[in-house]
Amino acid sequence: MPLALLLLAALAAADRPPKGPNMDAHSYGNPSEVMPTRIELDLAVDFASKTLGGTATLDVPPSPALRKLVLDTRDLAIEAAEVAADGAFAATAFKLGAVDPILGAPLTIALPAGAKKVRVRYRTSPGAKAVQWLAAAGTAGGKQPFMFTQSQAIQARSWLPLMDSPAVRMTYGARVAVPTGLVAVMSAEAKGKEGDVYAFEMHQAIPAYLIALAVGDLKFRETGPRTGVWAEPSVVDAAASEFADTETMVKAAEARYGPYRWGRYDILVLPPSFPFGGMENPRLTFATPTVLAGDKSLVSLIAHELAHSWSGNLVTNATWRDFWLNEGFTTYIEWRIIEDLYGPERALMEKVLGRGELIEEIRAFPPADEVLHIDLAGRDPDDGMTRVPYEKGALLLAALERAYGRDAFDAYLRGYFDRHAFTSITTADFEADLRAHLMVAGKPDPLDLRTWVHEPGLPGDAPTFESARFEAVDKDLRRWLDGAVPASGLETKSWSTQEWLRFIRALPPKLATPRLAELDAAMSLTNRPNAEVAAAWLVAATRGDYKPAEVRVEKFLTTIGRRKFLMPIYTELLKTPAGKARALAIFDKARPFYHPIAAESVAKLLGR
Ligand code: BES
Ligand code: ZN
Repeated sequence: MPLALLLLAALAAADRPPKGPNMDAHSYGNPSEVMPTRIELDLAVDFASKTLGGTATLDVPPSPALRKLVLDTRDLAIEAAEVAADGAFAATAFKLGAVDPILGAPLTIALPAGAKKVRVRYRTSPGAKAVQWLAAAGTAGGKQPFMFTQSQAIQARSWLPLMDSPAVRMTYGARVAVPTGLVAVMSAEAKGKEGDVYAFEMHQAIPAYLIALAVGDLKFRETGPRTGVWAEPSVVDAAASEFADTETMVKAAEARYGPYRWGRYDILVLPPSFPFGGMENPRLTFATPTVLAGDKSLVSLIAHELAHSWSGNLVTNATWRDFWLNEGFTTYIEWRIIEDLYGPERALMEKVLGRGELIEEIRAFPPADEVLHIDLAGRDPDDGMTRVPYEKGALLLAALERAYGRDAFDAYLRGYFDRHAFTSITTADFEADLRAHLMVAGKPDPLDLRTWVHEPGLPGDAPTFESARFEAVDKDLRRWLDGAVPASGLETKSWSTQEWLRFIRALPPKLATPRLAELDAAMSLTNRPNAEVAAAWLVAATRGDYKPAEVRVEKFLTTIGRRKFLMPIYTELLKTPAGKARALAIFDKARPFYHPIAAESVAKLLGR
């Protein structure tokens, strides 16, 4: 049969990601041959088997010749592939290729001439890397189960068969059947429900990594005309008051960078096992409950995820090498929103903390990992999720702001978002845009763009920040270290979360137990409810082998699954044989509670 022969020939070439300067090394997709424009999901959420099952239907531009469509998958059971022109669907040939440990397996589907739709019937695996299935015990309410997805960077393929590349943008629709009594939310407009089936529509074309779903016992509270929070019933009021400034943040961002283009901006507060601080799923930021500090002191996370509505969701990194275009721009905009809402001193403190984290982290880095336009070929894009794209990227924008002035740079950024709206761009595209619209030809460049983008380290002219309040904290710390005052004599009542973080992070590495005990007695650090402050303290306490903190360390590691907190504490524990034994025991207990992404990171760290 000629069709089958043609098909085999077509399939043979498809088992490796495409190569080339602008190709995505982390997707098997063939968008240069056929670019899907829409995906429609019809899925049932089954908590008993911990699987999603149903169909994904992709719209493809029709062509007169036979072609192949190559999708990304990971641990998906493919039950059928069908195609349709204008009429009924008919079965078509498909082949699941070899599994790569990082990329998953390509799914190659034969596309007969004229095919406009491709329908894949499939089921996810219980271990799907994007999905966490939480038993009722893992939730705040403790009565209903919960599930949620985390698609960035390349986990969408573990619950959706699609081209999982940030360069491929699609609209999406979804029908999601859930157990009676549970609520489904997605990164899309809610289109109501029929029985237990929730409907959604995302009208704008977005990349796969922004498709998100959560199902649980969820309630909604408004925080403004187009903003609100979703959370479990016992959390939703606290969330609404913590995030009461959200509408003001949206207005502040719009005033600088142009209209918010996604309709609503809601925030979903997840159970504490959410592996990240936040995730910028369009129309519905996913957030860790560990930012509910009670005093709005950690809302820069919301400023950050909101900023992605411009940098990331509107203008998207074309590949994961260009991740700094998402995160560096977003961190810079986050600083600007914080300054607009809470004033320059608060923004300065956050910038100093961020810069400090960058310097601290890259001390141990190989030079290649300090480069903004990082080479990630053959690596997990997760490896690129360091402070470098965030903080070094933001410092580059701050350097440009300093060189050209705030007004000119604001105007440039606003134009940048308009020029590239709803497209995915590379680092080279940004460099060309900058040369065309900000850097003046014929005049000497005020900074060395090539060094900033393509070389390791932090250029000597990188902006530095000084915070008067941090200087006061440093002075207090010195007075205590010199023995001039006891810990109880330090005037800490007015300290903000940021000042506490400064104080704890500036503690010398080797503090004897009595000194740690003195701080703890005066400041009750071990029992801090603020998770960010607690996490910093537990690192210092573990480093100093401060036994009274051990119970809290275990409690923290078994009830919070945010990777940014887990990794430094486990890393400290690993430094002594006794600590290592505790780390392994705690991890064995905590593992079922961690999201697969966090579990994998910790397992790798511990050699499990
Ligand atoms: N988009 C990121 C989260 C992400 C990046 C997930 C890469 C998976 C792969 C999100 O916007 C983010 O940066 N979150 C930060 C918080 C932020 C305030 C720096 C986080 O989760 O720590
Ligand atoms: Zn981000």
